[in-house]
This record gives sequence, C-alpha cells and structure tokens, in this order.
Amino acid sequence: MTEVRTAHTADLDTATLDAARILLDDVFEGDMADHDWEHALGGVHALVWEGAELIGHASVVQRRLLHGGRALRAGYVEGVGVRTDRRRRGHGAAMMEALERVVRGAYDLGALGATDEAASFYAARGWKLWQGPSSALTPTGIERTEEEDGGIFVLPLVVPLDLFGELTCDWRDGDVW
Ligand SMILES: CC(C)(COP(=O)(O)OP(=O)(O)OC[C@H]1O[C@@H](n2cnc3c(N)ncnc32)[C@H](O)[C@@H]1OP(=O)(O)O)[C@@H](O)C(=O)NCCC(=O)NCCS
Repeated sequence: MTEVRTAHTADLDTATLDAARILLDDVFEGDMADHDWEHALGGVHALVWEGAELIGHASVVQRRLLHGGRALRAGYVEGVGVRTDRRRRGHGAAMMEALERVVRGAYDLGALGATDEAASFYAARGWKLWQGPSSALTPTGIERTEEEDGGIFVLPLVVPLDLFGELTCDWRDGDVW
C-alpha cells in the first residue's frame, strides 16, 4: 500500500515535517544541514507513504534564475530522497512526476542541483545538464559558482534556454544551488 501525496508546506503537520527531515538525514547520511532542509520548505512536497511510514520525499520551491536578460520563475527541486531499502521501485520517479506537473503548470522552467549519484536519474526523465557557467546573485554582486558547474539540471518548458549560456541563481544562506 504505497501512495504519493502532494501538499504545500503550510498543509503538513509537524509530525510529517519531522518525519521528512529524519528521512532526509538518513538518506544523506548526516550530510543534510539545517540550511538544506530549510531550502526544501515553502513550496509543494511530494511524499511517498507506505502505510503510516514515510519512505520518500521531494519538494519544489520557487526561485529566480537570471538567464538571457530575464529573471525566470523557476520551480527548484530540493530534498529528493527515497529510503535506501526502497529504491529502484519507481518511488523516485513517482515523486518527480508529481513535482514536474507542478513545474509545468506554474513555472518558466524546472531546475535543481544534482548529486553525482542521481544525475542519470534526472537525465533519464528529460532534465538537461546545464553546460554553461553558473553564478549566484550574492549581496555583493554576481559571483561565479564554478564548483557547481556540471551538476545543475534544468527542465526546459516554453521559455527558450541556451544550455551553454550563463545561469545565475538568487541568493540564499547555505548552498546556493
Ligand atoms: C535518486 C533517488 C531519489 C532515486 O529514487 P528511486 O526510487 O530509486 O528511483 P526509481 O526507482 O523511480 O528509478 C527510476 C529510474 O531512474 C533511474 N535511476 C534511479 N536510480 C538510479 C541510479 N542510482 N543510477 C542510475 N539510474 C538510476 C533508472 O533508470 C530507474 O529505472 P529502473 O530502475 O527501471 O532502471 C534515490 O536513489 C536516492 O534517494 N538517492 C540518494 C539521495 C540522492 O542522491 N538524491 C538526489 C538528490 S539531487
């Protein structure tokens, strides 16, 4: 009995948010900082429930990405993880399908920063690797984020994107991409 449910952060109770945080701490083996969790809040979550147990989480939040002289409204995917013993059963794909529907309906493009492990997962779903230079709009101006180059994926929709062009994200505490 597995089901995927979507809900805005505002409609999730504390117990569910705590369960999601614990799941992601486990998935990322303690490498999930408070900032990383905070980045996953304020948008739409896709949650995979196996009965009363949460075995998958992903969310999409709004960010601005500067590209081609425009401030694009991006659906930025965060906090993607499936419990280790429940992988390769289609749960990750089901969560992404739910979030991609949100991205298609509400944003100019989808975007995310992928782990090395998950790059082929996103590529297989039609997400495109950004090939151009990445930057962040910091409080002191635009700064290159070269260490992120090669790990940023986008889901192009109607707005034309030059995958070899510059892509600049808005500012936030913690990891900017
Ligand atoms: C990435 C992750 C969410 C995928 O979840 P999942 O439930 O195992 O994914 P699915 O079963 O829906 O996989 C769908 C397809 O994606 C591809 N895929 C999934 N995991 C993959 C992997 N590790 N390597 C290569 N391809 C992969 C396969 O094509 C797979 O189809 P198949 O099993 O029929 O071959 C999961 O492996 C995970 O939690 N990883 C650790 C955390 C992480 O890196 N998250 C991403 C942060 S950006």
